Amino acid sequence: MYSISTVLITGCSSGFGLETAQLFLDEGWHVVATMRTPREDLLPPSERLRLLALDVTDADSIRCCVEEAGPIDALVNNAGVGLLAPFEDVSLSSVREVFETNTFGTMAMTQAVLPQFRQKRSGVVVNVTSSVTLKSLPLLSVYTSSKAAVNAFTESLALELAPFNVRAKLVLPGRAPSTSFGDNAWPRMAGSAHEAYADFTQAVFAAMRDTATPVTYANDVAEAVWRAVTDPAAPIRIPAGADAVALTQG
Ligand SMILES: NC(=O)c1ccc[n+]([C@@H]2O[C@H](COP(=O)([O-])OP(=O)(O)OC[C@H]3O[C@@H](n4cnc5c(N)ncnc54)[C@H](OP(=O)(O)O)[C@@H]3O)[C@@H](O)[C@H]2O)c1
Repeated sequence: MYSISTVLITGCSSGFGLETAQLFLDEGWHVVATMRTPREDLLPPSERLRLLALDVTDADSIRCCVEEAGPIDALVNNAGVGLLAPFEDVSLSSVREVFETNTFGTMAMTQAVLPQFRQKRSGVVVNVTSSVTLKSLPLLSVYTSSKAAVNAFTESLALELAPFNVRAKLVLPGRAPSTSFGDNAWPRMAGSAHEAYADFTQAVFAAMRDTATPVTYANDVAEAVWRAVTDPAAPIRIPAGADAVALTQG
């Protein structure tokens, strides 16, 4: 039995983060479930559950959260935001917003926990990226690049952490229409209605909503994160969901 027992997960207010928190609780772990605005009604009460406020784009919030969490054994960087729009239409402030959360937020959280992992010579960092980094899709240039950077970051980091018995892993989910991800992305997409791309954009949006083809479910991601944390022999890239798995097999 692997002895890790406390996990800190970012972005637990919905979707993959919430499901992952539930799975680790069900498996008997201590869970630090973090959210920008903590809500007590999302997970069943448990003496092994702590809810902490965390905005991964805010250095003070990260410092307070990591201090308050105390020693942890695994960090799951799940918090992320989406953006589906023709690049020509995307403001640089939106580009920065996506990178601040998906890329720099992941790096900042990782840096905040590495000293304790290195000192005790154990720990796992799991970064949730996306299967769009395996096969590119249109209108996702900013989002894909923010996640591809995390893939590269994690794979290099894993090499320098290995001598300290600290692991870094990637979970790559496929398309999951059942989470709040699409709705949460809308505010960043408002105003991107370039006429020249209108027909193309409508066709892509329709394809994204299609549920006739294989999709990813939140429990696929929770199980992949569980494997990444608890199985030292797991590969560094773990696809999550039937569509993501198919991409790695084709
Ligand atoms: N759904 C998909 O199709 C899909 C596919 C591949 C990969 N992913 C990735 O999987 C992860 C989870 O996505 P999901 O589908 O579960 O989406 P979701 O339901 O929108 O959940 C995203 C979570 O991230 C949190 N978050 C956003 N900005 C944050 C910030 N600055 N600080 C802390 N938390 C923040 C959100 O919290 P608030 O409630 O505070 O906004 C929310 O809890 C993301 O990294 C996403 O990029 C999603």
